Amino acid sequence: MKKVFIETYGCQMNVYDSEIVKSVLLKNGYELTDSEQEADVVLLNTCSVRENANKKVFNRINNIQRQRNENGKVQIGILGCMATNFRKQLLENPKLPIDFIAGPDSYKRLPQLLEEMTANGATAKNFDVTLSEFETYSDVYPTQTEGVNAWIAVMRGCDNFCTFCVVPYTRGRERSRSPQNVVDEAKRLADQGFRQITLLGQNVNSYQYDGNDFADLLEKVSDVQGIERIRFTSPHPKDFPRRLLKVIAENPKVCKQIHLPLQAGNDRVLEMMNRTYTQKEFLDLVDEIRELYPKMALSTDIIIGFPTETDAEFEDTVAVMEKVQFDSAFIFKYSERPQTIARRKFPDDVPEAAKKERIVRLNALQKRHSYQKNLAHIGETHEVLLDQEFTKKSPDDFQGRNDGNKIVIFPKGDYRKGQFLNVEITDATSNILRGRVVNVLNR
Ligand code: 5AD
Ligand code: SF4
Repeated sequence: MKKVFIETYGCQMNVYDSEIVKSVLLKNGYELTDSEQEADVVLLNTCSVRENANKKVFNRINNIQRQRNENGKVQIGILGCMATNFRKQLLENPKLPIDFIAGPDSYKRLPQLLEEMTANGATAKNFDVTLSEFETYSDVYPTQTEGVNAWIAVMRGCDNFCTFCVVPYTRGRERSRSPQNVVDEAKRLADQGFRQITLLGQNVNSYQYDGNDFADLLEKVSDVQGIERIRFTSPHPKDFPRRLLKVIAENPKVCKQIHLPLQAGNDRVLEMMNRTYTQKEFLDLVDEIRELYPKMALSTDIIIGFPTETDAEFEDTVAVMEKVQFDSAFIFKYSERPQTIARRKFPDDVPEAAKKERIVRLNALQKRHSYQKNLAHIGETHEVLLDQEFTKKSPDDFQGRNDGNKIVIFPKGDYRKGQFLNVEITDATSNILRGRVVNVLNR
């Protein structure tokens, strides 16, 4: 029996896909191993969203190669976004020891690819990077078996074509799974003891199936007994009709947290990015959310140094951050990606020094906002779902997440993973909240 080791890079969708891959391989007689040394096959599930992610994978491939030279048997397969996006470079570079590649829609064919590879011993000839209009893996159950949170990919792909983004090219067109299929999986996960479901999709709130939109899906999943919390990621600001906002604000199982990727605060830059909203429309959406639920936790993604972004235009991003005061933010330097519209049309002309200055400034600003937001929670009591019986720093502390997805740390006690606890917040940093347990909830 061949042993397979999988390493995952990039977003949550990739983490999810690795579970799909494991499930497919287990069904077909492969064994999984946590030890790279023991493996006959090493799979790297890759990400292309920024240059850094790519570089890491190329380094890793060379690294595995060195090891292969020592024990002479490892086969290397590349999965995920780089498989689609760097097919040519991966296959045609004789120095790269790659045996096969499979794109995000080809994982059901992996056993076949592996067999072909073993049969004809060919390297660099076994690939399948065909993108599908239909593949949703709705008939494959990921192998996740423990923990309190389980993921369900409800839609895949992206039709938005933001000009900076490679995802529409690596993951193809949008397609959704039927609500019944999603609900069935949620029920199965509830039976296994999961308390929280996170609905996943590249544009999760563009979900559409036979007249059901994302609000319908949230409502259906919230009827599943045993599932107490529902989160979703990652949405696009253009797909928040009022009815969806109301479901999020009013349905007690849907967490009061929205990731709202801003990307930039300047209208000219937003237009060049093809984000389809203006600064005002974004701010109006934030107002509408807060009018429905004043304490909604808001996080965001921001790209600085998009081609031609001037210092003055960058100040518009600062201004939006000051106005909104996000709870947290992921801030990225623009990174030119192959195939994208931005790469074809706009030279990457913002000097590295300016990019650096901008990212340092925004990170400092966000840190301040996160700290202020967290300080304001002191004295409140939050419902916390216990998910870890240790923390990064201490085996004597437990940790969980509040409704807004913030980490809450408290001294350990007679509590179990998967329990809901009322925790009074007593202290805060920019990253975490600290507190003491008031009582255990009966849920
Ligand atoms: N350069 C920098 N950041 C990017 N992102 C996507 N593409 C790029 C790129 N070319 C960021 C966006 C997105 C997040 C997942 O990654 O902010 O929301
Ligand atoms: Fe990376 Fe984006 Fe692909 Fe996820 S969807 S693996 S973040 S490129």
